Amino acid sequence: MSKKLKIGLIGTGGIAVGCHMPGYASIPDQCEMVAACDVNREAATKAAEKFGIARVTTDYKELLADPEIDAVSVTTPNAFHMQPTIDALNAGKHVLCEKPLAMNAEEAKKMCRAAKDSGKILQVALQMRFSSEGRFLKQFIDNGNMGDIYYARAKALRRRGVPHWGVFIDKEKQGGGPLIDIGVHILDLTLFLMGYPKPVVATGKTWDVLAKDEQNANFWGEFDRKKFTVEDFAVGMIRFDNGAVVTLESSFMANMEDDPFETQLYGTKAGAIVRKWSPGSPVRIFKEIDQQYFELSPQKLPKVDSDHTAEVQAFVKAIQNNDPSPVPGENGLILNAVFDALYKSSETGREVEVDITY
Ligand SMILES: NC(=O)c1ccc[n+]([C@@H]2O[C@H](COP(=O)([O-])OP(=O)(O)OC[C@H]3O[C@@H](n4cnc5c(N)ncnc54)[C@H](O)[C@@H]3O)[C@@H](O)[C@H]2O)c1
Repeated sequence: MSKKLKIGLIGTGGIAVGCHMPGYASIPDQCEMVAACDVNREAATKAAEKFGIARVTTDYKELLADPEIDAVSVTTPNAFHMQPTIDALNAGKHVLCEKPLAMNAEEAKKMCRAAKDSGKILQVALQMRFSSEGRFLKQFIDNGNMGDIYYARAKALRRRGVPHWGVFIDKEKQGGGPLIDIGVHILDLTLFLMGYPKPVVATGKTWDVLAKDEQNANFWGEFDRKKFTVEDFAVGMIRFDNGAVVTLESSFMANMEDDPFETQLYGTKAGAIVRKWSPGSPVRIFKEIDQQYFELSPQKLPKVDSDHTAEVQAFVKAIQNNDPSPVPGENGLILNAVFDALYKSSETGREVEVDITY
């Protein structure tokens, strides 16, 4: 039986209380949450009470000074991912850091370097690859059923879905808008399914044409339009060193049909679409057999109760088994580097190189 891990939480807001903490609580024989930190003491206290955690602090360094703590979740806003993560790794703790890994690639590189130097696990909280659809399709692709995937079209689009809480509309604390907030999920799933090819160049464009205008309703709840400093729509095209191309669209507000959250993969032997939160099968395969087109949907997807819980459980298991990170920092770095390139491309009107060296 492996040692029961002691866990600390840095940032006890929505994602910590709603996802990370229930994840740790789901495996009480493998880990126990022992300290909760938030700059807002009330938030930390409330979260600690809910999950029976004895210690509360407003200073994450105090939490990291505890030699008993093996691992932490960093669930602060994006601008506060880097420093606690680096400090935790340097203090010998494993880290599960929320997505996006960082505000930009420069920060992500420092985090990857700290992970490498410390020898501890840095896992990025990108849960879609733990979903039943993600698991099934990854295996299906790795078994050679799709051939070479040369193109993918990823969409994380909301018609009227600007988050009105937290700091999601504040570029200074968030690093960007829907691209970095939800585009990150669908791009991660897409690249995971494609075997994470190395991005080379990207071209993109962002707009902020709808969300600032109070005439456009936000069905998720009202927010201060004057404080909206991120894009409301982004589009990009990324080229990879294996010749593959991915296009990505992401929005908080757009005049369009539905709210598609999906990726469509084009392979030499078959195509596939993964569509989250829509009616019908979440995975469909498009294939030609004997000169006839077929559309197939898997009837027995692996059962996953919660993608977030599965992600937390994978983190704990990797620590206990001394395995590599289930979602390495380097994947998070690739995503940040692609977003940097897309934002720069939008500003300059040119194609931009994606730099992931560190
Ligand atoms: N994986 C997902 O699907 C998903 C979903 C939502 C949010 N997130 C990510 O989780 C992170 C947090 O989002 P949230 O929705 O929980 O936000 P939130 O505003 O609800 O919570 C953030 C908490 O961090 C605290 N905090 C801020 N700075 C801190 C610091 N330096 N030290 C300690 N605590 C600090 C705040 O007081 C707040 O309680 C973001 O990076 C976001 O992108 C991921």
